[in-house]
Amino acid sequence: MLISEQMNAKLNEQINFEQYSAHTYLGMAAALESMGLKILADYFFKHADEEREHAMKMIRYVLSVGGKVTMKTIDEPKGDWDSVESIAKQSLDHELEVTKRINELVALADQQRDYATRSFLQWYVDEQVEEVSSAEYLLTLVKAAGPQQMLGLEHRIAQMMG
Ligand code: FEO
Repeated sequence: MLISEQMNAKLNEQINFEQYSAHTYLGMAAALESMGLKILADYFFKHADEEREHAMKMIRYVLSVGGKVTMKTIDEPKGDWDSVESIAKQSLDHELEVTKRINELVALADQQRDYATRSFLQWYVDEQVEEVSSAEYLLTLVKAAGPQQMLGLEHRIAQMMG
């Protein structure tokens, strides 16, 4: 195996956290659709798919370096999804937490001189810049729109999604 037992365990934790992210975004998407906001819901459903891809990419990496993939229970998402603003805020907080976890993995790879994993993780470092920036932008749009302008917000999101 090309990576340490400790790195293998940490990558498995991150695989679980990416699955948890997908789980969280599915819950947020469903809550948004229940509010009648189908376009915002689609935005979050798409995000959930991306999180699953993040997990898949990591699973394939662990296997490619001869590690062992272990699937653990996915926690129940926490949070209050009563309003679009609280969902957008929690999405940003979630992405900041993912970023922190990716940075911890990078620090471990550096410490262990595990350059293969360090190189692999760069994709996640770059991805998190995009994810945090999109989450911040969404929160800004939601706050600017206010609760009365959700249909206008949906129109804007539809344009962003192309
Ligand atoms: Fe896989 Fe949204 O971070």
